[in-house]
Amino acid sequence: MEPIIEAENLTKTFRLGKVDVPALRGVDLRVRRGEFVAIMGPSGCGKSTLLHILGGMTAPTSGMVCVDGNDFSEMSDGDRTRFRRHKIGFVFQRFNLLPTLTARGNIAIAQHIQGNGFNPHRFDKIVETLKIKDKLDQKPFTLSGGEQQRVAIARALVCDPKIILADEPTGNLDSENARMVLEMMQELNREFEQTLVVITHNPEVAAGAERIIQIRDGHVVAD
Ligand SMILES: Nc1ncnc2c1ncn2[C@@H]1O[C@H](COP(=O)(O)OP(=O)(O)O)[C@@H](O)[C@H]1O
Ligand SMILES: [Mg+2]
Repeated sequence: MEPIIEAENLTKTFRLGKVDVPALRGVDLRVRRGEFVAIMGPSGCGKSTLLHILGGMTAPTSGMVCVDGNDFSEMSDGDRTRFRRHKIGFVFQRFNLLPTLTARGNIAIAQHIQGNGFNPHRFDKIVETLKIKDKLDQKPFTLSGGEQQRVAIARALVCDPKIILADEPTGNLDSENARMVLEMMQELNREFEQTLVVITHNPEVAAGAERIIQIRDGHVVAD
């Protein structure tokens, strides 16, 4: 079956002043439609960089990324941004919530940006599942790390994206909430054939995935 995500020989080198920092040194990756893949590896090995490239948010230094038949290098920045908004839900490691908006605003804005209008049914279902219904009128700084994380997850899911890319989505959650988020991801994956690529240090989350990709020093070392 044709992969929904295809990356070939990806490299990424950041330049800090006069120093080159190689983050990815030639990564090949294929993810099938509907697959649940966990990405693991020590801090600094390039996991977040890889996910940002797969999501079209960072351009690779070299190599090819093709998502759902679209080669990112052949798209304009505007087309890639529109594509991302419609097809990809991203859960950032640092949440990236807008500080001036309430939790409700942060979640709802994703649907407004996508342009499909606000779907109250889907919104309610997601905030209920994530148990943040009574937190919706609060601004991010008044929420705990775990609550902010769940708002960030809700924002990624509310548009019903084909692909979810999540950077340590359970990193700030206690084990009970981590299990709840994992179960929700598995349910979405099974029921809606959503493709999930999840960076995690949590062995339980990894055990729930169909496949584990190990990264070390910018290379895939096990798949
Ligand atoms: N924007 C950036 N500018 C400079 N260096 C960066 C940047 N982003 C990441 N790096 C470096 O790239 C390497 C990989 O980082 P990252 O992908 O965040 O690793 P991980 O998510 O596995 O912890 C690290 O050495 C990090 O310091
Ligand atoms: Mg990271």
